Amino acid sequence: MKHEVEVSIIKELMSQLDEGRNVDAGVMYRNPTTVYTCPDLAERERQAFFRDHPQLIALSGSLPEPGSYVTVDDFGVPVLATRDSEGRFRAFVNACRHRGARVAEGTGKHKRFVCPFHNWAYATDGTLKSVPLEDHFGKIDKSCHGLVELPAEERGGLLWVHPNKDGAIDLDSQLAGLDDEIASWNFGELVHQGETVIEGDLNWKLANDTFGETYHFQRLHRQTLGMINYGDALAYEEFGRNHRFVIASKRIDALRELPEEQWRLVDGTTPLYYLFPNIQLTWGDGVVSLIKMYPHPKEPGKSLTRILYYFRQDLIDLAANPDASTKVITAENTYDERVLDDGNDVTLSLSALTEVFDSTIEQEDYLMGKHQQAAAESGELEYLIFGRNEPALHHYHSHFRDALGMPSLEKMESVE
Ligand code: FES
Ligand SMILES: [Fe+2]
Repeated sequence: MKHEVEVSIIKELMSQLDEGRNVDAGVMYRNPTTVYTCPDLAERERQAFFRDHPQLIALSGSLPEPGSYVTVDDFGVPVLATRDSEGRFRAFVNACRHRGARVAEGTGKHKRFVCPFHNWAYATDGTLKSVPLEDHFGKIDKSCHGLVELPAEERGGLLWVHPNKDGAIDLDSQLAGLDDEIASWNFGELVHQGETVIEGDLNWKLANDTFGETYHFQRLHRQTLGMINYGDALAYEEFGRNHRFVIASKRIDALRELPEEQWRLVDGTTPLYYLFPNIQLTWGDGVVSLIKMYPHPKEPGKSLTRILYYFRQDLIDLAANPDASTKVITAENTYDERVLDDGNDVTLSLSALTEVFDSTIEQEDYLMGKHQQAAAESGELEYLIFGRNEPALHHYHSHFRDALGMPSLEKMESVE
């Protein structure tokens, strides 16, 4: 990100805090609760957003070296993603060309993927390398029986896969001007450090909605995230169907004492990218949480969230061997402002960060989502209201609807 953009975001947040105002979309909308419950809509979403749309599966750090692989089973097509012997990112249908068994499970590193059923073996570039007892089985043209390859692209440290072998990935238009900015953070240098899965009783869009406003920070998260971030202030910018959503952290106040040349976004804010349709990516200094939300394959009222964590190597080393001057944040003191106020030498206990982040989402945000889902399913609550201070909710619900050819959200008159 250009430094002048970092400065302008920080200044915008400072002025909102000083003036007691928030971002203002100037309009409220009604969102019908049926969008969270309708099985037909859920099926259309799965098709349009998860089968016919590129999927961000991970950051580059999930495939650190040639032979590294991950499997992904969240959007209806079993995917095997690899880094081949040349270091190139590739993706395949995780299905053997003999009779369709899975050739890889979980994550790890292999030179060959050997199907457990009859041991056909594939290279990391998908080529079929060997067929046991070919003289019994029959001669197979190996050159055209490699794993079915899917479109895949690695850009700016992000790994994209299209779940349809005939699909196209066009990141220039999809990221709508955000790709250079994303690349500037060097997310690709970070090391994958774990993953959390939350299966929730809430529609995948309700899961996404919890990342759509700062109005709840000083209320729902008063004792958790609200201790370290200001609420009711937001620097917000749209990039096509995506947006950048920057929250003021309480450390923003310390920047007021520094010359602008020294201001860094990560020192005074909690920034987030929303990447259409189902990604929230939040980052700090050497830390990324990649949050991916998926609809349940059958039930609109359920979803699965995966949170993948990535850290810069020096933070991993420091967390493993903190020196005497390092204040280590633990699960117990994460929200203790005295620790945070100490400023720059603070490092994170990695497990504490992930534990706290996961439990805030699961026990606070998704609990609200579960209640919202129950209300929607009762059929007695016709619509939800998106306020003027919730522009991200306007934005993605408008785009979800637009992408499916649905009528626009209905504006709601404000009563003065
Ligand atoms: S199904 Fe894979 S070797 Fe037979
Ligand atoms: Fe929240």
